[in-house]
Amino acid sequence: MSSDPQALEASDPLPSLRDEFHVPEGWAYLAGNSLGLQPKAARAAIEDELVEWARLGVEGWFEAREPWLEYAGSLRGPVARLVGAAEDEVAVMNTLTVNLHLLLASFYRPTPARHRILIEDTAFPSDSYAVQSQAAWHGFDPAEAVVRVPLDGVVEAIAREGDSLAVVLLPGLSYLTGEMLDVPALTEAVHAVGGVAAWDLAHSIGNVPVSLHDAGADFAVWCSYKYANGGPGAPGGAFVHERHGRRLDVPRLAGWWGNDPAERFRMEPDFVPRPGAEGWGVSTPTVLALAPLRASLEQFDRVGLNALRARSLRLTAYLEELLYEIAQRRPLTVITPREPGRRGCQLSVACDDAKRLAGRLRDEHGVVCDFREPDVLRFAPTPLYNTYCDCRRAADALLAVLDPR
Ligand SMILES: Cc1ncc(COP(=O)(O)O)c(C=O)c1O
Repeated sequence: MSSDPQALEASDPLPSLRDEFHVPEGWAYLAGNSLGLQPKAARAAIEDELVEWARLGVEGWFEAREPWLEYAGSLRGPVARLVGAAEDEVAVMNTLTVNLHLLLASFYRPTPARHRILIEDTAFPSDSYAVQSQAAWHGFDPAEAVVRVPLDGVVEAIAREGDSLAVVLLPGLSYLTGEMLDVPALTEAVHAVGGVAAWDLAHSIGNVPVSLHDAGADFAVWCSYKYANGGPGAPGGAFVHERHGRRLDVPRLAGWWGNDPAERFRMEPDFVPRPGAEGWGVSTPTVLALAPLRASLEQFDRVGLNALRARSLRLTAYLEELLYEIAQRRPLTVITPREPGRRGCQLSVACDDAKRLAGRLRDEHGVVCDFREPDVLRFAPTPLYNTYCDCRRAADALLAVLDPR
């Protein structure tokens, strides 16, 4: 196989931050698309808050070194930079599906004529459940109200369904194939038929640059435990475009953390939403769970998403080259688009017996990727901690476990 991975690593303009992460011993870990690795600074970030809790008790909400009252709010800046939003347009809270429900409660306002929700037919199951249950919640038959179309047929389907569409929910990047969607163009297509453009950025955030504000997306949701390295079950986030966020009359499922902070402790019964995405906040932020995310976001800000994306393109191109070489000798198909602008770092490979192969890759070769039904192996060389050597090791292992053609 081609180029020497060590030489490629040594000459890459952006050195990997691998030493700042706990990389499980002996593994080439290519599963950051599922759960990102732990930044070493995460432990100290949690410990800092434990110390403040021990030192201050309830006063930590106001007097901790990073007052807990503002803890989630202080993460909005770095998160907004990852999704191309203004700080006020994002809220760091809950997990993805919860945020999806909260925002659908506001932005899926179906009428008999316009009540359909369009998703793609390989949508992540939780998204599917969410939109089906929302349709049913409003008294519609999900089988009729939820339109599922192939990813490559989305544009035609939007035009065809036209003004029956209330919401179109799409992934920024497909969890299965790794294909990146054109957020601005699709948002425009949805708006052309009068629908709400909603985005699931689970596989985009921290992986590829996104410009939610400029694209005019209505809302978006994401989790922080994949490329954003926030840890298992880390709080996710939501984006609400400022044209909606400024409108305090948008109906919503309210809780006291969405209330105007100046009013919060007056203990009045009436809800006064704060402007911006945080107006969709419901409950007390989970400070200890946010601490690792704080450590991780500091890395993103230090490196910069554009430099990271540039390294990502180089790393993924290298793995891609190796996979295409294998495909000439072994029965596998790379199903991720070849054009670098249409993918992030993940490459998906379809092959027979993929589930068993994923097990063998791990157990016999220490290569951790993951398997997704029906026949897909996903390899995600993430630029913060993966190296060209990880890519090479994954490719060598794949060659070894696949039977010759
Ligand atoms: C594309 C996508 N959407 C939604 C989810 C669900 O996220 P959560 O469990 O945080 O609600 C996931 C989880 O992996 C996902 O990959």
